[in-house]
This record gives sequence, structure tokens and C-alpha cells, in this order.
Amino acid sequence: MKNRILPLIAGCAIMASCTTPQESPMDAYITDLMSHMTIQEKIGQLNQQVAGDIMTGSEQDTEITDLLKRGEIGSVLNVKGVERVKAIQKIAVEESRLGIPLIVGMDVIHGYETVFPIPLGLAATWDIDGIEESARIAAKEASANGVAWTFSPMVDICVDPRWGRQAEGAGEDPYLGSKVAEAMVKGYQGENYENDYNIMACIKHFALYGAAEAGRDYNTVDMSRLRMYNQYFDPYKAAVEAGAGSVMTSFNIVDGLPATSNKWLVTDVLRKQWGFEGFVVTDYASIDEMEKHGISDKQHNAALALKAGTDMDMVSRSFVETLEKSLKEGLVTTSDIDLACRRVLEAKYKLGLFNDPYKYCNIDKAQNSTYLPEYRETARKLTQESFVLLKNDNNILPLKKQGTIALIGPMAESKGDIVGTWCVASDPTKYKSVREGLETALAGKAKVLTAQGCNFVDDEYVQKATRSVVPFIDKEKGKREAIEIARKSDVIICAMGEDAWMSGEGASRADIEMPAPQRELLAELKKLNKPMVLLNFAGRATAIKWESENIPAIMNVWFGSECADALADVLFGDAVPQGKLTISMPQCVGQVPLYYNHLNTGRPLAEGTERYANFTSNYIDVRNDALYPFGYGLSYTTFEYSDITLSANTMTVDGTIKAKVTVKNTGDYDGVEIVQLYIRDPQASVSRPVKELKDFKRVDLKKGEQKDVEFTITPDKLKFYNYDLEYVLEPGAFDLMIGANSSDKALKKTTFEVK
Ligand code: NOJ
Repeated sequence: MKNRILPLIAGCAIMASCTTPQESPMDAYITDLMSHMTIQEKIGQLNQQVAGDIMTGSEQDTEITDLLKRGEIGSVLNVKGVERVKAIQKIAVEESRLGIPLIVGMDVIHGYETVFPIPLGLAATWDIDGIEESARIAAKEASANGVAWTFSPMVDICVDPRWGRQAEGAGEDPYLGSKVAEAMVKGYQGENYENDYNIMACIKHFALYGAAEAGRDYNTVDMSRLRMYNQYFDPYKAAVEAGAGSVMTSFNIVDGLPATSNKWLVTDVLRKQWGFEGFVVTDYASIDEMEKHGISDKQHNAALALKAGTDMDMVSRSFVETLEKSLKEGLVTTSDIDLACRRVLEAKYKLGLFNDPYKYCNIDKAQNSTYLPEYRETARKLTQESFVLLKNDNNILPLKKQGTIALIGPMAESKGDIVGTWCVASDPTKYKSVREGLETALAGKAKVLTAQGCNFVDDEYVQKATRSVVPFIDKEKGKREAIEIARKSDVIICAMGEDAWMSGEGASRADIEMPAPQRELLAELKKLNKPMVLLNFAGRATAIKWESENIPAIMNVWFGSECADALADVLFGDAVPQGKLTISMPQCVGQVPLYYNHLNTGRPLAEGTERYANFTSNYIDVRNDALYPFGYGLSYTTFEYSDITLSANTMTVDGTIKAKVTVKNTGDYDGVEIVQLYIRDPQASVSRPVKELKDFKRVDLKKGEQKDVEFTITPDKLKFYNYDLEYVLEPGAFDLMIGANSSDKALKKTTFEVK
């Protein structure tokens, strides 16, 4: 059968006579196309199906060929390999009645084959240009491999590290989260898909998925609107304003309604308040899951979702199976279906798929555009930047390239785990293990002895269930081997923590401490009294109090295809650590949710109080502060901050003032400092956080060098949503803090007044 679409382009979209004065060429083209579509074909555009490669739920691969021919599929997801994408596209384009191209989506979350650190690690670079570049590279590789649409960025704020998907977001802060969200959208989409490698971004998961109760994935969310607007919504909104073409609804309920059918969220907030013009897709089988949330049956739930403003049904087949019936029964209208169909077709039009359905299916391009040396170089640099040095007693790090090094732990040799969670297109055969990274860098100058030493966790079932490829070994034998090589070595590096799948979807943990077998081995190794470094592989904020009290050097590591080389760079001082935490690392799990930008309570603990204080907001058994606070991270060098100078002590409601500090590199290495600005509105019409990040700068400082770092305080940095959800600036006094991290002791302070 012949493709029917291309003649339509020639016949309408590029002929000015076809468009009415109000209609853009896109509108005219789609109006014309839709006039040829049956209701089944329109509903087909709203249906997304798996093609069997990668699945995250129980839905089975269906034989999609017949459905494609009947025009019952508008999109497929997670198909791997350009040949396979092309074959599927060919059926849609050449064998369906109208030949409407598919939009092919994939979870390209932190890279395609070149894998960047997990998003939580990328955020820890605070390198917004670098993050944008990582998304651009991901788009270049993905687009060359058939992918037109990525289900990224995930912008869910998360303050509870028990939730495994903390790994996939930028952390706990709405300001930083918004900057990262914007950068990712720009990196994927460019300005309006101007390059042939630009792909469509998808903001997810709308909304509040990261606030699942008790950090248990898919769990209930219940939150005041004030908190939604002031703490959780900004990154979604920023990504909308950056032009993201699509949004994915979340699995959870919001205000008692599944997000997928929550009209207030999907239509009132997203489209009306924020002006979102793209299309909305559900998360995996979310319409089906509405029944389990206790809402209604499949038919009614599909109608509710469509009515709420959701346009595409990811894999549950609820739309294709029920909407026609619902139309007859008056549950939905033709214009509801038309509107959703139009939005999906617009996305295809904007991506250029009607001009060339095979735009993303050039097989030669795929071969020459994937895992290129220049992409890997960028990934290596960003991975170096992402590591967060938590402690470094007696400057153990950097290590000298000499002697014998014991490399111990379940992450020491695992290539399967090195990229971290959820990178469906990665190819572990191409990546180096930590051991290989160290050996390459050492080039024979020092000897590396390696032992797995222990399992990730004590329970073999769990280790396998988290999909780790690391063998489950005999505990005593593992320990013996580790101690034996440690004895022969000058320094011990422990590559431990979480495997790739101990974080990510469905990977919640109730206990976020170092799992028992790893902790026990660390304790044994410590007895040898040798210099020890812990590389804490993490997909979340873990609670490593024991380690912080017992291991002299600890660095948080966030995976990635170039992780091994980047680790060697930093461990041996060819690069200097720069990363800073974007989540608060608790002392123990009982403190969570723990986040720096909390409200004050009526009985706050007085600043500087070291011990438990009765009838005060604190715990008997643990201090309130984080073990390592938001914004924290060390370097091999040190930085000193001057006091803050303000350009004026007062500002008008529509004016600006400038705040300046001088930062000096006082140590022995060139380095990069991430200078952070926090603001507090101490008296407002609603209770406001004790501080909020409002700006930051990454500053390069050579050894001995000092620079003035200046921030402009604009009205926007002082505004918030009041009780009536109006975005306001309330005149009065404000506290302004600048420093190295969010803890009070790291900040210089001053005040100013808005009149
Ligand atoms: C479920 C996840 O929640 C979502 O993030 C992902 O994009 C889809 N599965 C598709 O794989």
C-alpha cells in the first residue's frame, strides 16, 4: 500500500491557499489530515504500545503489526536499534490507510550509549551548561538510533531518599531543579527542534511522584496546595516554560485522584496556568492502575483521563478499547478525541515526521554517531565533576601512583553495574570496570590487587532481584580474600554501596545505611590500620554515619559509562573533586524526610545547640542536622569567603540590589568552588523556609587566586505563593546568606529591606 501522507503535504501544508488567515501551516495541515481520519484512526493516535524490547510493568508484547496496519497505534516505546525502529515505522507509513508516522519514544534518561552519571549525580555538578550538553549528546545518539522522543527529564523533587527514584531527579531543591530541567529540555530539543538531532523532551512525572509516602514507590501523595506551589511545582513549570513538547502523568494520586485523571493538574495547572501546549502521555499503564486505586472500571477511567486532558495512553490499551463505546454513550465527545489527536499530530509535525518519517532512521548515521570519543570525553569530564568528596582526613586523597593498591568491594569489577540505574540503551561490554580504570591510569606504575570481598546485601534473593550481575559469593571466603590483599597493600580503596538497581524504579529501601555485609567488611579492613578510601556508589542520599566516623576518606560516586576513568582521574589527582550534594544526607533513616529548606516550627532548636533539648523540635537520640548537608562537598584545595557587601541595604519591590563576596583559593590545588546564595523571608503572611537557594555560581580559582562573586537580587528571588496561591513579594526584611553549602556554619549572613 502506498503512503498517503506525503501527497497531503504537497497538497496542503505548503500551499498558502489551504490556510485560512488565522491558521498556521501546521494547523491547516492537521485539519486537513484529520478530515480524512476515521474516529478509530484518531483514537489510534492516542495509543502507545510496547514492542517487546523493554518493559517496566506486566503488559506483554503484543503482536503489533496488525494494529499498525489498522492505524491503531500512534506511538511505540523503548524499541532498541535503528533497524528495528525503521521496520516498525515502515509498516505504519507504508501499510496503514493514511500512513501517519509513529513517534518512537525511549527512556533516554542519562544518556544513550554514552552514559552520564545518574541524574542525581549530574545535578551534583551544578554545571548547567554541562548538563545541557549531556542532554544534547544523548539526543544526538538517540536520534541517530531511531528515537524521536525521550521520557526525560524527570524533575520530581524528592526529600525522602528511601524512594529509589531519587536517583533519576535533581534532588531536593526547586531552584536548582528548575535550572537543571530547563537545561535538559534545551539540550534535547534545541530551540524549537532546529537541528536534525533534536528530539522531544517529556517532563515527568506530573505531579509530585517524588513525594510518595514513606518513600515507597507508587505510594500515596497527599500535600497542601501551598506546598505544591512553593516547593514542588517549580521544576515542572520551568520545563514547560523551556518549551518541552510533552508531559507524562505520574502513577500516584494527588488530592485523592490519580494524576492521570486529575483535571485540576492536567488542564487547570499545566495548560491554563502554565500555558503548556504540547501533549500529555500517561505513565506505564496508569489508566489501568486507576481501577486499583479504587476509582472505576477501564471504560470510565479512560474517559476520565481523556476528559482531564490526558492525550496518550501508555500501553494500557484503555483508549483504543473503550473510547469509541464511550463516545456512543456520551461519556466523551468527538471534540475531546479530536483535541487529543490534534495535540499528538502536532508533535509529529513539529518533529518533522510528516516531511520525513524516517528522519531518525538513518542506519549509517547510527553507526557513526554512537559512543564517539568526543562524547565520552564530555561524559568523563562531567563524571569527574559529579563526584562529591565527603571527607578526606589527612589529605589521603589524591593518591600517589606508586606501591600496591587493594581494590575491594562488589563494585570493583562490575561492568554491568557501572552505568547505574535505568539506561536501556547502554552496552556494558564497552565500558571499563573500576579496576580497569585504575590500571589504565597507573600504566604499571603501581600494582592493583582486586577482591570482591563481600556481597552487596546478605540476602541472595535480593541481590539477584535487584538485577546485579555481581556473583553472590561465600561470605567467609570473600572476607579472607579481601583481607589477604589488603595486608599486602599500601592503601585500600573500597568500591562499595549500592549496585545499579538498588535505586531507580521500584527500588525503595527502608534502611538506607551501608548494607550489612559491606559494613562488616569495612570494619574488618579498618582493623588493618592502613589508609582507606571509600567510594560510596549511591543512587540516593544514603545514611553513612558509621562510615563517616570510621573511614578517613569518602567520596560519593554516581555511576556512568566513563565512571572508571573519571574515578582514576580524581583518585590520582589528575582532576580535583568539585561536586556538591543536591540532597541532604541524613545521619539515620529516622530523620527522613530531611531537607534544608524546611519551615522553622514554633519551637526550633536554638542555633549551636549541641545536645538534646526538651520541649523543642528535636530528637532524643539524634541531632537535627544532616550528616552532610545540601550543597556540601569538599575539594583537594580550600576556599575562604569574605563577608558580604551589598550595593544597598534597601530595595524597592520592582528594583534590584547586588550582593558580593570575595572567594579565595587558599589551598594547594587549582579548583572550582560552587558559591551558593540563600534567602529567607523571616516574617511573611505564611510560614516560609529557614532558607532557600536562589542562585549559585561555579567559580574557577587557581591556587592562591581570589575572585569577586556577585549576585543580583531580583524581585523574583523574593516572591512566593501566599495563602491564596498568588505569587507575591511582601515588603519587609530579608536575610541573605552566601557560602559553601546550606549549613549555617558555612554561610556568611546579612540582611536587607524591601520597601
Ligand atoms: C515507567 C516509569 O515510571 C517512567 O518513568 C518510564 O518513562 C516508563 N515506565 C516507560 O518506560
